[in-house]
Amino acid sequence: MEGTRKRLIDLLSNHQQPYISGQQLSDELNISRSAVWKHMNALKKEGYQIEGVTNKGYRIVSSPNDLSETALSWDLKTDWLGQRLIYKEQVTSTQIVAHDLARDGAEHGTVIVAREQTKGRGRMRRYWESKDGLGLWFSSILRPTGIEPKRASQLTLVAAVAIADYLSKYNLDVKIKWPNDLFINGKKLAGILTEMQAEQDAVEYIVLGIGINMNHDQQDLFESERNKATSLLLEAKQPFNLNTVLTELLFELEVKFDLFMSEGFSTIKGQWESYAYKLGEWVSVKTQTEWDAKICGIDEDGALMVMNQNHQVHHLYSAEILW
Ligand code: BTN
Repeated sequence: MEGTRKRLIDLLSNHQQPYISGQQLSDELNISRSAVWKHMNALKKEGYQIEGVTNKGYRIVSSPNDLSETALSWDLKTDWLGQRLIYKEQVTSTQIVAHDLARDGAEHGTVIVAREQTKGRGRMRRYWESKDGLGLWFSSILRPTGIEPKRASQLTLVAAVAIADYLSKYNLDVKIKWPNDLFINGKKLAGILTEMQAEQDAVEYIVLGIGINMNHDQQDLFESERNKATSLLLEAKQPFNLNTVLTELLFELEVKFDLFMSEGFSTIKGQWESYAYKLGEWVSVKTQTEWDAKICGIDEDGALMVMNQNHQVHHLYSAEILW
């Protein structure tokens, strides 16, 4: 985002007096009064409400609710995740855009976020519905050094813990259904899709996609999913600002990724288990066949540990918990 516009928001929101005059803005930014005016109009178009009072000046009344590139880059407090942030109105899938960018050499931490995806994809080639402006649909390009390809799937669990930690701040009882689903009150709120490009025993890059249903009303949810899916609005009974949630969540994700890289997966394991969906309960799991299993936790690799009816413990690297 343009540096001048960022500085303008800074001056308008952090000025000691409530209002700052047009002349002062022009002096501080070292641009003409008419250039200040143009930037101010651009901010208004993005959804900033700016009040102008004669003989006093200007102030920001509110920031945009809709995703806005300016608000995102302004609010971001991370060191590396999202420092290059690409915002798109509509894409097929942020995963596809991210893979293209990664192949072209996009740096570690690049984030692609879209208002709408027309071909959002989930795990097991499922369709992921991503309605315009209602949710957070974003993909991060990660280039972790010294990580073997078999450990890439741990990043899904790391991201799930970061999301669960973040959402718990809103007093929501978040559960993680192994490996990639976030549930509230028995309904799916969010999903994670981790895709990797690797050579032999080295990870080239990882695209970690996250989709969160945010401001969906019941009728905004996919009809066949209405009993199974939910949104933050439906659970917390309040609308959420997409810019705020995305920037705060990127911060949370960065903290967890850094922890994972410096300390390894063992520090995440216990946190993950504290959110585990149906821990200690009998469920139906699908591997090659469907069978009954009791969820025991995850192991040091992040594999799901379950016990069958003969009390044998299995470590599952690929499976689906059906219910
Ligand atoms: C799942 O639950 O199966 C994973 C869903 C992942 C959806 C996100 S939305 C952003 C990114 N782009 C996609 O096409 N998919 C992921």
